[in-house]
Amino acid sequence: MLNSSIITIRKPDDWHLHLRDGEILKAVLPHTTRQFARAIIMPNLKPPIRSVADAAAYRKRILAAIPQGHQFEPLMTLYLTDNTSPQEIRAAKSAQFIKGIKYYPSGATTNSDLGVTDMGKCNGVFEVMEAVGLPLLLHGEVTDHRVDVFDREKVFIEKYLIPLQSRFPNLPIVFEHITTKDAVQYVLAASNLAATITPQHLLFNRNSLFQGGIRPHFYCLPILKREEHRLALLQAATSGSPRFFLGTDSAPHTKQNKENSCGCAGCYSAFHAMELYAEAFDSVDALDRLEGFASFYGPDFYQLPRNTTSLTLTKTTWRVPDELGLMGSGLIPLRAGEDISWKMMESG
Ligand code: NCD
Ligand code: ZN
Repeated sequence: MLNSSIITIRKPDDWHLHLRDGEILKAVLPHTTRQFARAIIMPNLKPPIRSVADAAAYRKRILAAIPQGHQFEPLMTLYLTDNTSPQEIRAAKSAQFIKGIKYYPSGATTNSDLGVTDMGKCNGVFEVMEAVGLPLLLHGEVTDHRVDVFDREKVFIEKYLIPLQSRFPNLPIVFEHITTKDAVQYVLAASNLAATITPQHLLFNRNSLFQGGIRPHFYCLPILKREEHRLALLQAATSGSPRFFLGTDSAPHTKQNKENSCGCAGCYSAFHAMELYAEAFDSVDALDRLEGFASFYGPDFYQLPRNTTSLTLTKTTWRVPDELGLMGSGLIPLRAGEDISWKMMESG
C-alpha cells in the first residue's frame, strides 16, 4: 500500500550486515531484528569465520541473542582465505544455513588481514562454488597503495572482476556495497551477478567526510565518492532492476575506535536502516520501487522465498539520537543528531 505519507511493504531483508560478537552482538542485533526478517552475516570476526563449524557456532550465538518476540534468520557466510579448501566449500553447500562465501582482498578493510592475497589461489574453490551454485560475495576493491583510494573499485572491475567472470561465467556473484557509476554499468551489462547498495552511498557523497572538519562517522569502505556516483547509485536502486538490492553494510565500531587518530571504517545504520532507505527513495519520488529493492530482489537472487509479513513506514520527522550505548563507549549512528523524515511504525 502506498500513499504520500504511509507505505506498507513486504518485510525486508538485509543482504550485507556486520553483527560482530559478544557484547556488541547483543547490543546491535535488536536494531536489525526490529526491521529485517533475515540478514547475510559477514564473517570478518577476529578470528574470522572460516569453517562450517565456526559458522554453526556463530549462528547459535546469534540465535541466542535474538530478542523475545522477534523472528529472525541469520544467513551465514564463510571468510575466504588463501587456504580455504574445496572440501570446505562442499561442506558449506551441504550445510543449508551457509548462503555465500565472502572474498576480502587481504588488507582491504576491517579484519581483512587473513583475506585473499592472490585471487589465482582460489581457482579450485571457485570451480566448486560454480558447480554447486554457492554465491561469491565480493569486497570489490584493489589494495594496491599506488591506486588512488577513490579509484579502487573501478580498478578492481578491470583487473579482477572481468577476468573472474570470463573464467567462471556461471559462478553467482554479489558485488557488495557498490559505490561508483562504473560498478552500476558493469552490473547492468554482466550476467550471474547482482549488487548490494548501502544507505550511506545513496544519501551522501564524499563532501560529507569533510563538512566543516573531518567527519569520521561518514568514513566507510569503499569510501564515499563524488556526487555523480551517488546519483548513478540512486538511479540504479530506484530503477526497478532486480540486479540491485538492499545491503546496509551496517558496521558497528565503538565511538572511541571511530574518533581516533587512526579511526576504523564503517557506518552504523542498523538502528534506522529502512528509514534511511525510505528517505533516499523519496528524494527521487520512487517510494513505489522500495519494496522490490528491499524485499524481493535479494531473496530472488539467493533463491529463497520472499517474506510473508510486512513493515510500515510513515512520513514523520524525528531526530536520530546523538549516541547509542555500546560497552561504555557509545555507538554513533549514521546521521546522529539530525532529522530524518520517515519513521518505521510496525512490523509483523
Ligand atoms: C566493514 C567493517 O567494519 O566490518 N567496514 C566498512 O567500512 N564497510 C568492513 C567492510 O565491509 O568493508
Ligand atoms: Zn561490509
